[in-house]
Amino acid sequence: MSQYTTIKRLPLVTGEEVRLRGWIRRVRSSGKISFLVLRDGTGEVQCVFVKKDVSPKVWTTVDSASHEMCVGVTGIVRSDDRAPSGVEVTAREFEVLGDADQFPIQPKEHGVDFLLEKRHLWLRSQRQIAIMRIRDEVVRAIRDFLHDDGFTLVDTPILTGAIGESAGTLFETEYFDLGTAYLAQTGQLYVEAAAAALGKVYCFGPTFRAEKSKTRRHLTEFWMVEPEAAWIDSDQNMDLQERFVAYILERVLERQRPELEILERDLSKLEAIVPPFDRISYTDAIKCLRSGGSETEWGEDLGAPDETKLVEGRDKPLFVYDYPKGVKAFYMKENPKDPRTVKCNDLLAPEGYGEIIGGSQREDDHDKLLARIREEGLPEASYDWYLDLRKYGTFPHSGFGLGVERTVTWICGLDHLRETIAFPRMMTRLTP
Ligand code: 4AD
Ligand code: MG
Repeated sequence: MSQYTTIKRLPLVTGEEVRLRGWIRRVRSSGKISFLVLRDGTGEVQCVFVKKDVSPKVWTTVDSASHEMCVGVTGIVRSDDRAPSGVEVTAREFEVLGDADQFPIQPKEHGVDFLLEKRHLWLRSQRQIAIMRIRDEVVRAIRDFLHDDGFTLVDTPILTGAIGESAGTLFETEYFDLGTAYLAQTGQLYVEAAAAALGKVYCFGPTFRAEKSKTRRHLTEFWMVEPEAAWIDSDQNMDLQERFVAYILERVLERQRPELEILERDLSKLEAIVPPFDRISYTDAIKCLRSGGSETEWGEDLGAPDETKLVEGRDKPLFVYDYPKGVKAFYMKENPKDPRTVKCNDLLAPEGYGEIIGGSQREDDHDKLLARIREEGLPEASYDWYLDLRKYGTFPHSGFGLGVERTVTWICGLDHLRETIAFPRMMTRLTP
């Protein structure tokens, strides 16, 4: 008996003797019987050691075992209706493979700073595992949806010479003799070029913003998926976002229900999210906010409290479209019906989770785009190639960026987005 099996496979081999290895989730003993919950990356199972049925050596070792040790267990698989996995192991042998003396995270309340300091160990907790699995499913759903919808993945550079979003939040690094390189805030400008080659494209990778904000919605490194499509306008862009978000939710509900339950997520709230989502113009949103007592004036960006207010009493995400030029990026298309505004949208998640998507139709008029670049004081020379797209076969196109961490935070019902990425990067955290 030398082959190890995995916990996931156990229901297929009830009645047989198996050898398992993994980490101890928890262990408790009554003096005559010990219950040890083993976790191996494929699942969890309870292993039962009965003092009179195992050797004294095995008993003593189990008796002194502590959580997060890496161990091997040999025993018989029994079906057990009460167990979450439907099985339990009646254990016979036990060996310690890796000790875990004084594991820093104990089964008690720890402060979040401490847990972030020990993030490399905190990842092993049941909640963190559930979040990681949901994130994985969100990412897979994103890719599946886009491929099934005819989008081609185009990987865009992380080291860039042009500012993608705004000058205020850039990480800079020296780049040989060529001056300053920036870490990408977005891959958008590049997928716009690729859309003229492939029609429907997307990039998906880490993006970087030197945001000096310590909110529960900001990371300095986060993952963003950015679909970009030729021939679609701002309204059709919102149609696409709606289908996209609904699909992601559907997939998580279909495949990660146990994980959502571990997180005690109210599933009915997620199940209610089916297209269409309501759409409100920025101008109407301001009217509505001001009549509710907000001091935000037309022309100002919406703050987090405004966003929360707007989704109050709504079950579904809400599109806010056509913001004033002044609060949005240079590349957005001027609104022909009201040139003070641009053809863009934010998508606000319900329950006060805030913006999960920012999207827009792109300015396809060369001179207007150039004027915007100048107005923003951006270095014109770095946008030569981007302006070329408007010189050689300019075309209507739109796209958007969905932040993975914000989306996972909402789906999981978390207070803070730092738990949705394995090793969060924030203003005050660069380790582990
Ligand atoms: O609205 P943003 O800045 O849009 C863009 O970057 C566009 N280039 C996207 C495009 O049209 N292709 O960012 C898009 C999304 C936000 O809605 C949010 O979900 C996420 O990216 N995001 C952040 N997530 C975590 N931490 C931050 N600091 C974030 N900044 C933006
Ligand atoms: Mg935005």
